[in-house]
Amino acid sequence: MAKKRLNVGMIGYGFMGRTHSNAFLQAGRFFDLAYQPALTAVCARNAARVQAFADNWGYPSVETDWRRLVERKDIDLVDIASPNDTHAEIAIAAAGAGKIVMCEKPLGRNAAESKRMVDAVESANVPNMVWYNYRRVPAIVLLKNLIEEGKLGRIFHYRAKFLQDWTISRELPQGGEGLWRLDSAVAGSGVTGDLLAHNIDTALWLNGPIRELTAMTETFIKERRHTLTGKVEHVGIDDASAFLSRFENGSLAMFEATRYARGHKALYTLEINGEHGSAMWDLHDLHRIQWFDHRDEGRLRGWRSIHITDSDHPYMKRWWVPGLQIGFEHTFIHQVADFLEALAEGRPAAPTFRDAMATEHVTDAVLKSAKSGSWEQVAG
Ligand SMILES: NC(=O)c1ccc[n+]([C@@H]2O[C@H](COP(=O)([O-])OP(=O)(O)OC[C@H]3O[C@@H](n4cnc5c(N)ncnc54)[C@H](O)[C@@H]3O)[C@@H](O)[C@H]2O)c1
Repeated sequence: MAKKRLNVGMIGYGFMGRTHSNAFLQAGRFFDLAYQPALTAVCARNAARVQAFADNWGYPSVETDWRRLVERKDIDLVDIASPNDTHAEIAIAAAGAGKIVMCEKPLGRNAAESKRMVDAVESANVPNMVWYNYRRVPAIVLLKNLIEEGKLGRIFHYRAKFLQDWTISRELPQGGEGLWRLDSAVAGSGVTGDLLAHNIDTALWLNGPIRELTAMTETFIKERRHTLTGKVEHVGIDDASAFLSRFENGSLAMFEATRYARGHKALYTLEINGEHGSAMWDLHDLHRIQWFDHRDEGRLRGWRSIHITDSDHPYMKRWWVPGLQIGFEHTFIHQVADFLEALAEGRPAAPTFRDAMATEHVTDAVLKSAKSGSWEQVAG
């Protein structure tokens, strides 16, 4: 059967512009999809660099103003892979133009901004999705299935961390290309919206809603030169963020994210402890889960390391042969495949904008609690 062509307009050619372009190109080669994405136009402000990106990835045309891209009649899907302060304006305009909208995380810079985006896609009734790609790691999907099957029993504890070390130098400026994550006006917050948001999205998906929390944040370097103004300015982002929380299912949780954990480049870890067993996952070993089942025969009871590469593991029958691993980039390919499957069947693909807004209700509460010093209820 002939595939339906879906013209993609990409905004941003940075880290995520590359992972998404690769995903749109690869998804139809490994999954049976009714839609065939076509990289149609890419947009960024620097004409020469966006042209070079387009040539490399096979986009036949470029734009230097996202408004032009959104207006184009030949674009079906607008994909937002630009910094956080651009998400709302672009998504709302794209929904208004009737486009399918995919947006990088965090959806908005706070829940109020996200709500405007949710309202826009829902009132325009356009398919939408947020790129919380860790939901598409085969090991994490397996974990989700095992939890739903009750294999861990009642959940008592959830623990997650996201550790990096790239902002420790006080000489590092804030703002501008590559450093927009240090500028609170652009990013919204620091590690809370950037790294913790990933931990939170996965946690909400695996363990349900978070009811209340108490948090602390710290900005270790309080002033940095701003790349765009050249002046030394106050730093508005949080460099580190940690919180204790209670889920609606009664389990207790600890979350931590920082860019000041020397030696760690991108270490996302999570652990869940239940009545019957426990599970651990680690981004550096993303194709494994560590699994403990208390119901195993006592003499043989212990932690198992499960290699998630068999054809009965999530997504893996689409890839190589048992025993061979896949990596980070495949999570984006899975996301495109799942989105296009849902689109063909006329159903939403999670996380929708509305699903992703739940994370911002938690990050808002984290930032509020860090200021108030009190426990805060999570809205939403
Ligand atoms: N899902 C994930 O694992 C993950 C990982 C990294 C980043 N992100 C998210 O992806 C988004 C982009 O992050 P990144 O790391 O790719 O950033 P980046 O700095 O590498 O790239 C940003 C791109 O956006 C372009 N851009 C900036 N302002 C623009 C504008 N006004 N109009 C058009 N283009 C513009 C830049 O030219 C650049 O190409 C952020 O929201 C970030 O939080 C998600």
